[in-house]
Amino acid sequence: MKIAIIGAGYVGLVSGACFAELGHQVICVDNDKDKINALKKLKIPIYEPGLEELVKRNHQHGRLSFTSDIASAVKASLVIFIAVGTPPKENGEADLTGIESVARSIARAMDSYRLIVEKSTVPVETGKWVKHTIEINKKKKVSFDVASNPEFLREGQAIKDFMQPDRIVVGVESKKAEELVRELYGALGAPLLVTDIKSAELIKHACNSFLAMKISFINAVASVCELAGADVERVAEGMGMDKRIGRSFLNAGIGFGGFCLPKDLDAFVSISEKLGYNFSLLKEVKKINESKKLEFIKKIEDNLWNIKEKTIAVLGLAFKPDTDDMRFAPSIDIIEKLQSDGAKIRAFDPQATHKAKGLFSGVKFCKDAYEAAKGSDCMIIVTEWSEFKELDFKKLKRLLKQPLIIDGRNIYDPNKLKGLGFKYVSIGR
Ligand code: UDX
Repeated sequence: MKIAIIGAGYVGLVSGACFAELGHQVICVDNDKDKINALKKLKIPIYEPGLEELVKRNHQHGRLSFTSDIASAVKASLVIFIAVGTPPKENGEADLTGIESVARSIARAMDSYRLIVEKSTVPVETGKWVKHTIEINKKKKVSFDVASNPEFLREGQAIKDFMQPDRIVVGVESKKAEELVRELYGALGAPLLVTDIKSAELIKHACNSFLAMKISFINAVASVCELAGADVERVAEGMGMDKRIGRSFLNAGIGFGGFCLPKDLDAFVSISEKLGYNFSLLKEVKKINESKKLEFIKKIEDNLWNIKEKTIAVLGLAFKPDTDDMRFAPSIDIIEKLQSDGAKIRAFDPQATHKAKGLFSGVKFCKDAYEAAKGSDCMIIVTEWSEFKELDFKKLKRLLKQPLIIDGRNIYDPNKLKGLGFKYVSIGR
């Protein structure tokens, strides 16, 4: 099938490469000409495991191409995915101007039936507006369908999430649209849930808000565990064994970040309010998430006495492992607060350093964990990269001014670190 994907960001690029892998003919479109020129030279603008290989292979086989000319891509394709950004506005609402502008461009270029699919995360009722925008801007008397097909791709494992999804959600208004989407995804053999457009849009916001709620819930339990002298890891294990609850997204820590959970939570609160419902539960989820970063800073203070003039080795900057994404990373608030308290920062991240460099001033970026630890008063774990689990602790002990590790992600066994002579402080245990 011939597909155009408008927006070559995380979602667009991963979806485009994966659809091409399934045998479809895909054109990825972006108005950022530099990005398109780089992609034409097979330079991938993001770090996502397996993506470069997938893009290269499908490009070589002639199934994946790149352009900044949206009109030609629309003319050449039957199905058009909108995968442009929906960044948060000051008030938490999603900014949908990108979606509107793409819908307008699609309308002007359509010369026969097209299926236009929302892939970006959008608030409920966006489909109605996309349809209206196309209706009033189309040049010819052509028919079209709008559908919603939200993505559930986790950064770091986006390709696996695309290729082996728990389910595919599609909101449609016609049998024809449903059939086209079924054909698109047919090769995956995954369960496909067909709903109306509004429900599909809502499923996405409800999922991400629920995941955020799970994280804030366990983080609140972690605070109670600390007060009671219990171990949140054991509590999460016991909770997770209940099939109704499940163990995933019950990892206590310094809270969630990234470009999806925080933004979708705000957008869901905002659209609910607009529709007349005060989603106070989700406001509390956000409050708990913010407070975890402050609690973490307090742990550092409690163990270093004065933060001023102290040197802190920060391990991990990306919002989570296996990505170089720094958007809404907890490391940003944590480092800024430590710096404003007078600390010197020596930081290391396996992938995100190049992006982090533009975000901080006065941070010494190190080539590995050992260089960061050298001469530091303590080491803090902010992102749980698996390589941090395998560090040489004897070497670290020699390099740090004192053997103090404050772990915001609970990656070490407290007894092991204690046995090695470290003072080890973690979350909720
Ligand atoms: C999320 C959704 O999972 C995905 O389905 C959606 O389409 C996009 O948003 P992503 O932002 O890539 O994916 O990251 P995710 O793996 O969900 O983690 C989000 C944040 O929560 C990270 O900062 C992570 O560190 C944190 N997290 C996750 C926890 O603190 N504890 C957990 O148990 C799980």
